[in-house]
Amino acid sequence: MAKNGGLVLNIIVCVVLVVSVKASKEADRVTSLPGQPELTFRQFSGYVIVDDDAGRALFYWLTEAVSQPESKPLVVWLNGGPGCSAVAYGASEEIGPFRLNWTGTGLYLNKYSWNIAANLLFLETPAGVGFSYSNTSSDLHTTGDHRTAADSLSFLIRWLDRFPRYRNWPIYLTGESYAGHYVPQLAHAIVSHNAKSRHHINLKGLMVGNAVTDSYYDNVGTVTYWWSHAMISDQTYRRLMKTCDFRRRTESDGCARLFYYTMDHELGDIDQYNIYASPCNIADVTSTTRRTLSFPSQHKNLVSSLTLTNTSVSFANVDFLLSYTSIDNNPC
Ligand SMILES: *[C@@H]1O[C@H](CO)[C@@H](O)[C@H](O)[C@H]1NC(C)=O
Ligand SMILES: *[C@@H]1O[C@H](CO)[C@@H](O)[C@H](O)[C@H]1NC(C)=O
Ligand SMILES: *[C@@H]1O[C@H](CO)[C@@H](O)[C@H](O)[C@H]1NC(C)=O
Repeated sequence: MAKNGGLVLNIIVCVVLVVSVKASKEADRVTSLPGQPELTFRQFSGYVIVDDDAGRALFYWLTEAVSQPESKPLVVWLNGGPGCSAVAYGASEEIGPFRLNWTGTGLYLNKYSWNIAANLLFLETPAGVGFSYSNTSSDLHTTGDHRTAADSLSFLIRWLDRFPRYRNWPIYLTGESYAGHYVPQLAHAIVSHNAKSRHHINLKGLMVGNAVTDSYYDNVGTVTYWWSHAMISDQTYRRLMKTCDFRRRTESDGCARLFYYTMDHELGDIDQYNIYASPCNIADVTSTTRRTLSFPSQHKNLVSSLTLTNTSVSFANVDFLLSYTSIDNNPC
């Protein structure tokens, strides 16, 4: 009798759990977005609390695969910066299913969206970025790679509790720019977690694009890319390689002068992040381009310089997404 009572109680507990998990997942369902076209896939979005005491919560947006989502992997996308929103950049400008139309009043489908091949989970990290937040203000000053990785791991564990059907699916981590730090560090945290826990995260692989990894190689790589793509002359390439140290946080005056010479006289009106497309000039793009082009190791400064440019100031009262869309370069 006591045994049966226990069983009944267990069943009730299970049913309540299943219902509450389902309810919380369904509560995250996005039924439609303003100006959205007809869709063949489902979307979910919401917060996952990653630290109960501090009141830190990370925001996510899941856009499932356009067909047979159950046979496609889960791809987690992170933007860098540090400080860039994955909703604003990765999802809305790059690999996500939606693009904003010209008037900013409607959405259309991106025919190159990665959700043709995968279920895309955009995560805004760390707290303070995009819609992710903390109720402990000091968190915004004490943030860093270590906590970003730990919080992103907590996010994944709790998110998989909310979306149990994804629990055993292959998971890939990817992202760009400063996510060159976040992605491998999160992968490391997952591998350590898997070694200790029965609830394995089925991490299959990782990929980073335009990644910030190591200042020296990132900077040498950038200059070599300019040269190997005929954006600068042989002579300027050799002078840059000889004059610049590339290991320093702040370059010498000689290197800075050469750098500005390169910007003003050689690179021209080319978006170095997308050299085969024409830059989408909205305002005076020459000054914007010059001020925002810099070595990858200076990405952090670059983000604050973006908000000071004329182009983005004129869009500042529209919204964050548009203010960044108006800039050709993507340091995020
Ligand atoms: C943060 O504080 C608000 C207001 O008290 C509360 O509604 C919210 O649940 C808190 N968030 C977290 C993650 O604790
Ligand atoms: C943008 O989308 C909205 C909503 O679908 C539509 O009413 C509007 O005409 C579109 N504007 C342009 C320029 O495509
Ligand atoms: C922005 O551009 C306008 C016109 O091109 C110029 O007069 C103004 O000084 C610029 N402002 C800043 C902050 O650069």
